[in-house]
Amino acid sequence: MKTQWLIALMVGLALVGSLAFVQAQTNGSDDPGVQQEVGASGQPIAFPHDRHTQEFQIDCQFCHFSAERSGSAGIPPVSTCMGCHTFVSGSQNPEEVELLRGYAERQEAIPWNRIYRVSSHVQFPHMRHVSAGVDCASCHGNVEEIGVIQEVAQPLTMGWCLSCHMEMGASRDCTVCHY
Ligand code: HEC
Ligand code: HEC
Ligand code: HEC
Ligand code: HEC
Ligand code: HEC
Repeated sequence: MKTQWLIALMVGLALVGSLAFVQAQTNGSDDPGVQQEVGASGQPIAFPHDRHTQEFQIDCQFCHFSAERSGSAGIPPVSTCMGCHTFVSGSQNPEEVELLRGYAERQEAIPWNRIYRVSSHVQFPHMRHVSAGVDCASCHGNVEEIGVIQEVAQPLTMGWCLSCHMEMGASRDCTVCHY
């Protein structure tokens, strides 16, 4: 798992080259020592997936930039948000956009809480699935209709992985998922 993040981090660095990204990786909810700030939404900022993906038609991979080429999908750095929110305020929850601007001004990464996670003895490569044409929605549900993501669409059990692998003719060899 450590190696996977390191690789993701290196790929991310090469692509984004931004300090904000490094902070996102090291200060995020992966670090058990970090005190999380949590609003009523269960996240430090109530980021509405539905509005961004459906109303404003932003592609998933505009934000989850490494899903096609790395093990992890990637969480966007604050600078991605500020590309719009330097100019765009909020009409429904303007105070949440103010929180976002606070992180940007302090040059702090947002300590998002992680929702989807497999056990550390399992490896899950996003790029293999995305390049095989498996939709985000097959595993994450209709994110376009979810406001703040609060729970997994389905438990990430071995049986769930295997039944799709069986259906789609993907490998069921123990060693592809377990080191
Ligand atoms: C404008 C940027 C943006 C877009 C577009 C976007 N996301 Fe996200 N996504 C985020 C941020 C920020 C988080 C972390 C906060 C959260 O969990 O809500 C996140 C979290 C997630 C998570 C939960 C990750 C975890 O913690 O386990 C999933 C799953 C996800 N996004 C899927 C999608 C899918 C599928 C789409 C397209 C339909 C999409 N996202 C579009 C920014 C975006
Ligand atoms: C491509 C432009 C774009 C990007 C990138 C973007 N947003 Fe937004 N966002 C918008 C627009 C447009 C609105 C709607 C504003 C309104 O309703 O007046 C919005 C609304 C919001 C709202 C709700 C505010 C309200 O009052 O309705 C929050 C919170 C938010 N964005 C957070 C984020 C975060 C966090 C990120 C980065 C992960 C992000 N946005 C990235 C365009 C963007
Ligand atoms: C075959 C199932 C599957 C597909 C398809 C899939 N994911 Fe995931 N996703 C997962 C699993 C499983 C995890 C937890 C991985 C882990 O803990 O290493 C996850 C974690 C995530 C995370 C949080 C951690 C990270 O990887 O950065 C985000 C964000 C995410 N997925 C977004 C997406 C987006 C966007 C798409 C489509 C482009 C997508 N996923 C396609 C199963 C899937
Ligand atoms: C919705 C269907 C689906 C689900 C659910 C799914 N996978 Fe997959 N997975 C695939 C497909 C299709 C491929 C084959 C991609 C290819 O042929 O390159 C694949 C390939 C893989 C590979 C690469 C296999 C190889 O031959 O190198 C790994 C590792 C993997 N999946 C792990 C997982 C894990 C772990 C889970 C559960 C947490 C999971 N997958 C859930 C469809 C799925
Ligand atoms: C497609 C991916 C995949 C393949 C192939 C796979 N596993 Fe797993 N395995 C998982 C996932 C995901 C979990 C974690 C389940 C959880 O945390 O609930 C898991 C969990 C386990 C566990 C721990 C059980 C537990 O309760 O956490 C063992 C032992 C195990 N697998 C053995 C095997 C063996 C032996 C094989 C080959 C016959 C195999 N796995 C093939 C994905 C896979």
